[in-house]
Amino acid sequence: MVQTGRDATRAYFKGWDERDHNSLILRDAGEAGMDFFGFKVPTMRRSTRWKPTSRTTASPPNASLRATCWRPASGCASRSPRATRSSCTRRRRTSATALGYFNPPPWNAASEVGIAPIRMDHALIYGPDIEKVQALFVDVLGFYLVEHILLEDGVTDLAIWLSCSTKAHDIALVRNEEPGKLHHTAFLLESWEKVLRAADIMSMNKVPIDMGPTRHGVTRGTTIYAFDPSGNRFETFCGGYQSYPDWEPITWTWDEVGPAVFYHDRQLNPAFLSVYT
Ligand SMILES: [Fe+2]
Repeated sequence: MVQTGRDATRAYFKGWDERDHNSLILRDAGEAGMDFFGFKVPTMRRSTRWKPTSRTTASPPNASLRATCWRPASGCASRSPRATRSSCTRRRRTSATALGYFNPPPWNAASEVGIAPIRMDHALIYGPDIEKVQALFVDVLGFYLVEHILLEDGVTDLAIWLSCSTKAHDIALVRNEEPGKLHHTAFLLESWEKVLRAADIMSMNKVPIDMGPTRHGVTRGTTIYAFDPSGNRFETFCGGYQSYPDWEPITWTWDEVGPAVFYHDRQLNPAFLSVYT
């Protein structure tokens, strides 16, 4: 990634084709984890107007998540390294791109250094109450459900994929007893060939690969999972398809959960699910 700044406690980075000042902030902490993950949304509805829809439960969204979402852009940083929080901004200062805004070339030198993701893509977070989190994201923030995997009962969601764009997902959530956990953050690559090249670069640099290169059934994305030196899992991802808010969500049943997650192996890797930060 391209480093765009540094201060006493933090270092700022972005993908080579991103136009904001940064998409990733690193800071020292006693343990791995994520302070917050931000989204750009067209409007934020006041929580007092929140009403359940047919896609959500009748319970109000989690209060701490709701409060976090109403922080102004300048106050997004959480003080807790353990809290998996979401933050949203209506307006954010943009930054010059290395390619420029007039007659730009298709790529530049920065796009060829290392794995060189285009941009930050999505995150997967763990928590116990998927229904309330879905209600928050759908009814307050304007996301929509793209895909979901059902548990054995055929009714309860094991995991959901939500989008606030035409991407197959901007955030995913997996049901987990322990709240506030990060499974991974993902960086976007342009092609399956770039995913394979990323695996080569990880091996050259002895980066511990967790899974892949492979393909997901959910989203059809191609992927590698690996760990950074702090123990955070990250993903190099090439997106599968584009989605639209009026599309019927795709459902994966429990008997097909293996190919839903790893389409080639067709089975879950227990360590992949149980290791998170
Ligand atoms: Fe992912």
